Amino acid sequence: MPEATKGRQYRREAAGPATATLLEARGVAKSFPHSNGTVTPAIGDINLSLDKGEFVAIVGPSGCGKTTLLRCLCGLLKPDSGTLSYDGQPVNGVPDDVAVVFQEYNRSLFPWLSVRRNVEFGLHGLSKAERRARAEEALTRVHLADVLEHYPWQLSGGMQQRVAIARAIATHPALLLMDEPFASVDAQTRIRLETMTASISAELGLATLLITHDIDEAVFLADRVIVLSPRPSRVLAEIVIDIPHPRSELEVKALPRFQEYRRLIHDLIVAKEPESADAATPASAETEPERSA
Ligand SMILES: Nc1ncnc2c1ncn2[C@@H]1O[C@H](COP(=O)(O)OP(=O)(O)OP(=O)(O)O)[C@@H](O)[C@H]1O
Ligand SMILES: [Mg+2]
Repeated sequence: MPEATKGRQYRREAAGPATATLLEARGVAKSFPHSNGTVTPAIGDINLSLDKGEFVAIVGPSGCGKTTLLRCLCGLLKPDSGTLSYDGQPVNGVPDDVAVVFQEYNRSLFPWLSVRRNVEFGLHGLSKAERRARAEEALTRVHLADVLEHYPWQLSGGMQQRVAIARAIATHPALLLMDEPFASVDAQTRIRLETMTASISAELGLATLLITHDIDEAVFLADRVIVLSPRPSRVLAEIVIDIPHPRSELEVKALPRFQEYRRLIHDLIVAKEPESADAATPASAETEPERSA
């Protein structure tokens, strides 16, 4: 049995009845007040959950609050209201077994550390030998075993993003959160990275939450796609993607069912798109004084 199939079966077993819930958000809202008295409402009222081992994609229009939601879900940002729980516990700070991959991979890697040392860096509390073994294992999974001693600036964008993914999986997370991780790479590299992510997630039995604005990517990778409205965002729809794993990109994208899913999601997003994406907010609120990566 291929590794990916084994992993996927593990995921299905893990995703049993009610006790399988890993992450849950109920009524989560977040706004950003500005010094001039205006407020940018980012997320309005988010209800969602993610099961152990499940792959969920979140799609929504540009600026609808996806990154804000991700930062709330992983405990980097405190919501104004609502509740967040992870593995049955309230979320206060980033849980130990949650890893995040951000879009700006070039800002998240240390240029003065080798690829291997970049991955070892996040592995606190382990012996040097264990850190090395975990880093090498993770870098092998992302097919970078031959550039361990290179520096990030010697690598292509897609390779740098793979280092960021290796750094995340080397911590042996139960949940991997990814914010538009493939947005800055070319189309061919993107497909390779998507396929690699699907295999890793399945082999390791990882729960994965992928934020993307790419509908094809969401349908190709996810067990379930959550569609958000324009901001302040709320969940417009949750669509179960009934296509068996492992999925081959070429075969899946040729399926009539794939086309139906992408059409459905596209229509949901377009139907809700306001004429001007920022119509609800005074222009002055769009200066982002507190914005950080
Ligand atoms: N730290 C912050 N301070 C002030 N406003 C913020 C901050 N972070 C986000 N915002 C505002 O909240 C809204 C949602 O931003 P967010 O980055 O979450 O959206 P997004 O869906 O991830 O956008 P994109 O599609 O561009 O990635 C935007 O109007 C943004 O300007
Ligand atoms: Mg974003």
